[in-house]
Amino acid sequence: CRVAVVGGGANAEHDVSLASAAAVRAALTPSHDVVELTVARDGSWWSGGDALTFAQAVGLVAACDVLLPAVHGPRGEDGTLAALADLAGVACVGSGVRAGAVGMDKWVTKLVAAAVGVAVADGRLVRGVAEACADPRLPAVVKPVSSGSSHGVRRVDTVEDLADAVAAALELDDRVLVEEVVTGREIDVAVLRRADGTTLVSPALEIGHAGAVFDTATKYDGSARFVVPAPLEPADAEALAAAALSVVDALGCDGVARADFFLTARGPVLNEVNTMPGMTAHSQVPVMLAAAGLTYAELVAELVAQARA
Ligand code: DAL
Ligand code: MG
Repeated sequence: CRVAVVGGGANAEHDVSLASAAAVRAALTPSHDVVELTVARDGSWWSGGDALTFAQAVGLVAACDVLLPAVHGPRGEDGTLAALADLAGVACVGSGVRAGAVGMDKWVTKLVAAAVGVAVADGRLVRGVAEACADPRLPAVVKPVSSGSSHGVRRVDTVEDLADAVAAALELDDRVLVEEVVTGREIDVAVLRRADGTTLVSPALEIGHAGAVFDTATKYDGSARFVVPAPLEPADAEALAAAALSVVDALGCDGVARADFFLTARGPVLNEVNTMPGMTAHSQVPVMLAAAGLTYAELVAELVAQARA
């Protein structure tokens, strides 16, 4: 089976996506015919170091059996690459256009989660600094609606910081979320749709880090510690698994998705859903699924098989 693996991407998570794509390609190479495609930061397409026209890139994708978009963030994880596969008539790993687009939008994800009874942080949508500062409600967490790896995310305690953080988030998106600060343990759960039609909900993973916020630096400086299975009361483990499955079902995610929570005194509070989560062998999803008995190579092969099923 011939698989086009796309990495990179024209967004702030470009480097993480390169790492995910390299790991996926290495895992697939022994058993699959892998076509490497990279989207540069400027949106141009490349393969094996050669620049491609967009038409050439689409031609390469269309000649494959499966597209595996290992691209996190806007113009990749948001359904755009799934749309390209769809229009080219090629099976695609992971969520389709709708779940990708909705999952990339943190505001719409909150509305969907709340509608199916999954708790979310109180928050509001702002489109400008003046609007945010007119009703500050501090302390708060500021985040662009559509971004990833915590780019543009900041905790703010003063109106001045709020203004700065909203202005910075507006560099990444034209809509910004201002949320209450949620205090709790940071716990992730993976939901894998399998080729046989069953669904696997992973053991929960707890993230240990020294910073006040699990920010971009803490995510990739090697200091975060993952504990899986997270030490949890059975009732909390059940509540997290049920909440992850509810929100992933409601969004209609496919492939593997990772739901990120804060476990608070009032139970799990959903932070966000990643429809193309980090996929290096040391990222949360592969680590969680290894704890469920799937090796990294088996996970990647399963994702390709599920896309074709
Ligand atoms: N958005 C990053 C890659 C993650 O989900 O881990
Ligand atoms: Mg994310």
